[in-house]
Amino acid sequence: MCGIIGFTGSREAAPILVDGLKRLEYRGYDSAGLITGTGSSLHLRRRAGRLVELEKLLATQPAAGTYGISHTRWATHGGATDANAHPHLSADSTIAVVHNGVIENYLQLKKQLQADGVQFRSETDTEVLAHLIAHYYQGDLLLAVRKTVELVKGTYGLAVVCKHEPGVLVGARLGSPLVIGLGDDGNYLASDASALAGYADKVVYLNDRQICQLDAESWVIRNQDMDTVDATAHDIQHYLGDYDAGKGDYPHFMLKEIYEQPEALANAMRGRLDDADATAHFGGLNLTAQQLRATDRVIMTACGTSYHAGLVGEYLFEELARMPVEVEYASEFRYRNPPIDRSTVILAITQSGETADTLAAMREAKRMGHTSLAICNAVGSSIAREACGGVYLHAGPEIGVASTKAFTSQCAVLTMLALYFGRTRHLSAPQGQKVIDELRALPDVIRQTLRCHDRVKDIARKYADMRNCLYLGRQYLYPAALEGALKLKEISYVHAEGYAAAEMKHGPIALVDADTPSVFLVPRGQVFDKVMSNMQEIKARGGPVIAVCSPNDAEVAHIADDLIPVPDVPEYLQPIVCSIPLQLLAYEIALLKGCDVDKPRNLAKSVTVE
Ligand code: AGP
Repeated sequence: MCGIIGFTGSREAAPILVDGLKRLEYRGYDSAGLITGTGSSLHLRRRAGRLVELEKLLATQPAAGTYGISHTRWATHGGATDANAHPHLSADSTIAVVHNGVIENYLQLKKQLQADGVQFRSETDTEVLAHLIAHYYQGDLLLAVRKTVELVKGTYGLAVVCKHEPGVLVGARLGSPLVIGLGDDGNYLASDASALAGYADKVVYLNDRQICQLDAESWVIRNQDMDTVDATAHDIQHYLGDYDAGKGDYPHFMLKEIYEQPEALANAMRGRLDDADATAHFGGLNLTAQQLRATDRVIMTACGTSYHAGLVGEYLFEELARMPVEVEYASEFRYRNPPIDRSTVILAITQSGETADTLAAMREAKRMGHTSLAICNAVGSSIAREACGGVYLHAGPEIGVASTKAFTSQCAVLTMLALYFGRTRHLSAPQGQKVIDELRALPDVIRQTLRCHDRVKDIARKYADMRNCLYLGRQYLYPAALEGALKLKEISYVHAEGYAAAEMKHGPIALVDADTPSVFLVPRGQVFDKVMSNMQEIKARGGPVIAVCSPNDAEVAHIADDLIPVPDVPEYLQPIVCSIPLQLLAYEIALLKGCDVDKPRNLAKSVTVE
């Protein structure tokens, strides 16, 4: 997903735009650019590479003007080059556009424009928009944008300026978020409200198929028929809370967010654990107890780390609520068209609330008339607003591309949801209270678990040069193994594979050699002996073993090469506890390999394209 910032007001625009891009760089960072205006002159500056390259350019070639738009890119069409960086200009350089999303029919539109003699200067899909808006422009930028987006198939969050309308910004939204910011010094457009903290006092979210026009003093939102839409401006704090979105004393957002997990878990549970009825309560499910009682099955749909949380949720719902659960990759679910009966609830799990596949999967479920809930972190995000109801994580913005606190908070919320469903079914009050007590103890357990950091650093140094790594676990710890492997892959670029420990025997064990360590999640539990057998099988083939295990476990110590003891908790909480050392291991190895921990190559924090 890309980052968009626009400003029009009484201050110089470029510093505001650059500062906003810094806050959005986690969303995409292949290239960055901006365009500002002084009267009817537009000043375009853009550079491939990180935002710092654009800043260097601006230091030698400042862009003046009190209005402008800017963009930080996650490439979908065309490589990370200056020419492909946004903003893109029309042929006569009167129109400039920044875009987040994918124009699926851009080739067809491009051919038509080329047949009309338009010369293209980039490989991007976005450039067709600049030429089309110029084609339709007859003195009304909003109308020209409206006519253009009517031709578009795909998704867009747009910001547009025109040299003939100094100080005016036009925005449009379909499938990619866009928000208007209202401030004392002027008005803003952004793809994420978090970029407007400290600038805008209020924000107004656009909905799909809405377009907007703003200048320094006014703003208007219109629908497809160009009718004015009544929209409410909300205090920006409603969406951002009082969270400090900086790194604080940490070198990276990811490390900060790993260490925030005790607090994040406490926030996820705050006000939701009910001792009186030995259950959990949620203010936003928007379903009656009868509707929830009538739910006989849950389909969880998500992507990436959130999908792994869903896999943990499957075990949780089966154990605590005795409910059948299916977990589906959102990208598969939306096209599979599976038979779903009326007593099934669809549960989307997402940190950003903007993941295109998850949003589309939820919309498909809603189209079919199913109750669609969401577990989400980003307040006011598309999925949060379109779900029938749901549960916010309250984890605070997660900036590091590799998800950490969101994952453990998702697991905690799923535990509470399973408790809630369980207590409307067979779970007794004492059983429910036991779950509550163990959840309440979790933040302190995580604080204890974080003390493994120095040991993890030593292990990271020992294995930093590995090229392949296996992560193995059973039952609740199978999804944790998948998640641990994903962490290592996405920030250190080491190939890692998560597997159900017993499955190694059915082929993957052929990968095992002295250079391929296996990380075993093997705290005491009902399948401990089975996992120990799997560990023996690996050792017998010369594979090094790193064991995340219970404290002072001599049996594990006798076999494993390296130990990471973690506090004992009930098995349904082990995914949360065991993920902590795996997050730290990935972080420390990535550091040793000189990787950019917060902005790993090829990735973006939220993938708003299919
Ligand atoms: C996880 O570390 C990744 N950043 C990625 O897999 C992420 O979990 C996935 O893109 C889903 O994002 P969401 O939770 O915001 O929907």
